Amino acid sequence: MTTTGTRPRAALPAAVRVVDAVKVYGRDDTEVRALDGVSVDFPVGRFTAVMGPSGSGKSTLMHCAAGLDTLSSGAALLGDTDLSTLDDRRLTLLRRDRIGFVFQAFNLLPTLTVAENITLPLDLAGRTVDRARFDRLVDTVGLRDRLHHRPSELSGGQQQRVAVARAFAGEPDVVFADEPTGNLDSRSGEEVLSLLGRTVRETGRTVVMVTHDPVAAAHADEVIFLADGRLVDRMPDPTADRVLDRMKAFDSRAPVTTGGATP
Ligand SMILES: Nc1ncnc2c1ncn2[C@@H]1O[C@H](COP(=O)(O)OP(=O)(O)OP(=O)(O)O)[C@@H](O)[C@H]1O
Ligand SMILES: [Mg+2]
Repeated sequence: MTTTGTRPRAALPAAVRVVDAVKVYGRDDTEVRALDGVSVDFPVGRFTAVMGPSGSGKSTLMHCAAGLDTLSSGAALLGDTDLSTLDDRRLTLLRRDRIGFVFQAFNLLPTLTVAENITLPLDLAGRTVDRARFDRLVDTVGLRDRLHHRPSELSGGQQQRVAVARAFAGEPDVVFADEPTGNLDSRSGEEVLSLLGRTVRETGRTVVMVTHDPVAAAHADEVIFLADGRLVDRMPDPTADRVLDRMKAFDSRAPVTTGGATP
């Protein structure tokens, strides 16, 4: 699907890595092991989808890998930086400068224009906006004629494209997206997914996307599957049909094959 598709995973450096990740919420009889020993790499320049049943730990994995939450044990690394070594202030700066986020709810600021929303992270960081790069980004997301509109004047798909542009504006090491198409009809969803895929291929950025939708997951270079807080399978070069078949195995409570889980 991509030029890197045939390269062995091991040859690609990791943009993000989690090692033996355990996350426990609550204690004693209310204890939930949301992550139960997950180790996985998200390679540089690749688009990875994270799938699994509701409650399997997808959002928890994403939040811990992105420094929005902390692990109970194990490690989360962005490049060479072990997030657990950072205090709150440095973690906030790392999130601001090196990570982009796209959420299901678009999270745009209603009083700002499209252009202002896109450059907000850069403005907050006191970074200058490179005009040529901003123009390229605006053209990639197809919002040239909407730059001075407010988010409320845009369709859901357009709003999410603004959120995608904002996520990539600061040239982050990685963009995390949690169900970015969850609130969109299939056509707008398709536009946002092609946009994510195109941005990965054209700019070599790294994207990690949580999704329930096999069609969305098929846009990725690889899908990893979680169940009960564990990594249970991975699928390179996914198609929607194969992902759907794999998901059905969870629904029917069929035994989980772990054959693909070990690198
Ligand atoms: N803040 C929290 N306090 C207690 N338990 C939590 C908390 N956040 C998540 N959990 C629990 O951890 C487990 C994993 O949750 P998580 O949100 O990561 O699942 P998910 O795979 O993203 O599910 P979904 O597909 O429904 O979004 C669930 O059992 C959930 O109830
Ligand atoms: Mg979730």
